[in-house]
Amino acid sequence: DNERDEEIYKSYDNVTSQLPILHHWPPFSLLHYQSCWIPNVLLPITMAIQSYFNPRPADILLVTNPKSGTTWLKALAFATLHRHTYSLSDHPLLTTTPHDCVPFLETLFSHRTIPHLNILPSPTIFTTHLPLPLLPKSVLSCRIVYLCREPKDTFVSLWSFNERMSISLSGATNRNEGFEFNKAFQLFSQGIAPFGPFWDHELGYWNGSLRRPEKVLFLRYEKMMEDPVNHLRRLAEFMGCPFSTEEQRDGVMEDLVGLCSFDKLSNLEVNKSAVNIDGETSKAPMAPNYYFRKGKVGDWVNHLSIEMAEKLDAITKEKLHGSGLSF
Ligand code: A3P
Repeated sequence: DNERDEEIYKSYDNVTSQLPILHHWPPFSLLHYQSCWIPNVLLPITMAIQSYFNPRPADILLVTNPKSGTTWLKALAFATLHRHTYSLSDHPLLTTTPHDCVPFLETLFSHRTIPHLNILPSPTIFTTHLPLPLLPKSVLSCRIVYLCREPKDTFVSLWSFNERMSISLSGATNRNEGFEFNKAFQLFSQGIAPFGPFWDHELGYWNGSLRRPEKVLFLRYEKMMEDPVNHLRRLAEFMGCPFSTEEQRDGVMEDLVGLCSFDKLSNLEVNKSAVNIDGETSKAPMAPNYYFRKGKVGDWVNHLSIEMAEKLDAITKEKLHGSGLSF
C-alpha cells in the first residue's frame, strides 16, 4: 500500500529532521541515533529496517563495518549458495557486481516502500552495515555472518572510499572539497564514523557469536586472506550448504575462491566501471570500481604515521580489553 508506506517514511523523515547533524563525514552528515553514527540519508531507512525487516529462519544476513570486505563476502556467500545453479564459465558474478547479486538492506528499504522480502526465494542473502543493537530482535531467527577487519586498514580503506566519493561529488556540484585525512583520523579515533563506533560494532557481533555461535559466525578479513579455502568450508557449513566430499575432492572450493578473488573480480569489466549505480558518471556517489582498491593486508603502513598507528592500536586495545577479541 503505497500511501501507507509514504506516511511511514514521512514519520521517519520527521524524526530525522529533528536530530542535529553532529559531524560531517564527507560526503555524509552523521546523526547520533541509538548510540550509533548514522549518515543522515540512511536514518529513515534504518528506522524502516528496524520496524519491518523480518527475516525467515533460512535467510542469511551478512554484516560488516564499512570497508571490512563486504564485497568479497557477498561474492563468496552468493557463489557458495548458488553453486548448483551456475557454472563457472557462465556465472552471474562475471557480469554483475557482487553488490547487485546481493543487495544491501539499506538499498532494499531505500525506495520509500516497505519491500516484500518474504516473496524472495528462501534462503535469500541480505547484507547490512547496521550494528546488532539497531537490528530488530528477529534477526537472531536467521543466521548472521559477520566479517571484521583490522582497524588501521579499515580506516585507510574507509577514508579512501569517502574521499573518492566526495571528490566525485564536488566535481559535479562544488559542495564538497574532498576529505582531509587527519580530520578523518581524528573522528575515527573518537568512534565517529559511519555506523561507528567501529569497536562497538565489532564487539556487538563478537559477543553475539560467543553467546549464540549457531546464529552468528564471526570471520576476520586477515584470516580469510591467509586461508580462504578453509574459511569457505566453514561459511558453507554455517549457511547450511556444506561442500560434499566429492566437491572437496573436485576442487570446487578452490574454484569459488578463485572466482571471488580480488584479482579476478577487480579485472572484470563490470567491476572496473566508473559509472555510478544511477548510470551517471558526473554525480557518481559510488561506482563499482570504488569497491576495489588494493585488497591487501597491512596497507596502512603507506598512509599512517607511526604515531597515528600507535594511537589507534592503543585505542583498539583499550576498547577490546577483556573481550577476547584482539588485533
Ligand atoms: P582496500 O581499500 O584496503 O583495498 P567493502 O567491500 O566492505 O566496501 O571493503 C572494501 C575493501 O575490500 C577494499 O579494501 C577492497 O579493495 C577490498 N576488496 C574488495 N574485493 C575484495 C576481494 N575479492 N578480496 C579481498 N579484498 C577485497
